[in-house]
Amino acid sequence: MSRLRIRNLCVDFSTPDGTVSAVRDVSLDLEDGEILAIVGESGSGKSQTAFAAMGLLPANARCSGSVCFDGKEILGLDDDALSGIRAREIAMIFQNPMTSLNPYRRISDQMTEVLEVHQGLSKKAARTQCIAMLESVNISDARMRFEQFPHECSGGMRQRVMIAMSLLCRPRILIADEPTTALDVTIQAQVIDLLKMIRERYGMAIILITHDLGLVAGCSDRVAVMYAGRVMESGPTEELFLSPRHPYTDALLKSLIRMDEDTSRLYSISGSHPDTTDAGSGGCPFNPRCPVSTIACSASLPAVRTVGSRSWACIR
Ligand SMILES: Nc1ncnc2c1ncn2[C@@H]1O[C@H](COP(=O)(O)OP(=O)(O)O)[C@@H](O)[C@H]1O
Ligand SMILES: [Mg+2]
Repeated sequence: MSRLRIRNLCVDFSTPDGTVSAVRDVSLDLEDGEILAIVGESGSGKSQTAFAAMGLLPANARCSGSVCFDGKEILGLDDDALSGIRAREIAMIFQNPMTSLNPYRRISDQMTEVLEVHQGLSKKAARTQCIAMLESVNISDARMRFEQFPHECSGGMRQRVMIAMSLLCRPRILIADEPTTALDVTIQAQVIDLLKMIRERYGMAIILITHDLGLVAGCSDRVAVMYAGRVMESGPTEELFLSPRHPYTDALLKSLIRMDEDTSRLYSISGSHPDTTDAGSGGCPFNPRCPVSTIACSASLPAVRTVGSRSWACIR
């Protein structure tokens, strides 16, 4: 049984301009000790998939499908039940750590509170555990950092503090939504190394959400590529990089490789990511930008084909 099993997840937003279908029929599995990367252009539905799974959608959203954690359905649970799960079982960190850290409170107060509230620890016991957790995410001078305010730390340091804080209750799953996007390249690599270390040490499952396919090559076990709210292809990272089955994955990979080789010949995918208000003609959403599309591609939505550990939604 998967630790997390998402089936046919759909998220629609009602807006003054009509319905936005942000997530369409997404199915994913996550096992313990695994890093699953969800990759796609901005607006492809990555964050909303995670928010739906965590019960964090705004009021104008409607969702359907199934999200099972440890075999138990959690989609549609009330706020009380979900806040328990979010505190203890599934943690989430974001691109900007300041969305979760309060700028006016010391790191020590924010961290110890988590253990006092959710685990009933005394202040003293909580302090000891928090400092140990800061050390375990390789924060040097953990005691000194512990007493600081978030703004006294660099961006990379704040992200480490956020990760340490999210791990305090030993969740089974960590969802990291663009955790390195705001950081420079060296610090990005350190945060990715940290995620790998956490996976090893705690046997956790991690969902790494990113728009950067290059980032996931060295760390994820499996990749799901999203486009216009749908999973276009998924499979083991190495296989997907070596032999992409979907033209969109292929195009993403080409844009990466060319960038490494010769910046004067930048490969970019022509056209733009579709507006998700438009429900589409019923064909493949990538069809208008696909270099190998045929007439049949606009006729109907390609069914997802699964062979072994790989799945893809393309008729070719
Ligand atoms: N509150 C909202 N109301 C209407 N549309 C939204 C809302 N939040 C997100 N969306 C739309 O949902 C789509 C997917 O968004 P998101 O999951 O955040 O993309 P990303 O892959 O960049 O994380 C986008 O088209 C976005 O504009
Ligand atoms: Mg996002």
